[in-house]
Amino acid sequence: MFATTCGFCHQEGGRHAGRGPKLSKSERSDEYLVERIKKGKVGAMPAYGSVFSDGQIIAILAYIRGLDD
Ligand code: HEC
Repeated sequence: MFATTCGFCHQEGGRHAGRGPKLSKSERSDEYLVERIKKGKVGAMPAYGSVFSDGQIIAILAYIRGLDD
């Protein structure tokens, strides 16, 4: 799910910066990351609040937190 939807901008599964920033080892809070995924950022990142369920967004958050590099 991450690879197909987010990987275009967050490369190598979020481990490296591409069009979007590196996500692994983020110092942001869980709330910040969830809000960003739901609302996106105008001109930079699409909003996924109406694309994914809350459960799916939590799964993405767990994936990001599980990245080890
Ligand atoms: C069209 C490109 C694009 C796509 C697709 C995209 N993003 Fe992003 N994302 C960005 C950009 C650009 C930023 C940085 C915006 C800023 O803060 O200036 C960002 C920022 C983020 C942040 C905040 C990181 C931080 O430390 O501030 C998270 C979390 C994030 N994206 C997750 C995701 C997830 C999860 C997906 C897939 C569901 C996704 N993104 C899809 C471009 C994208």
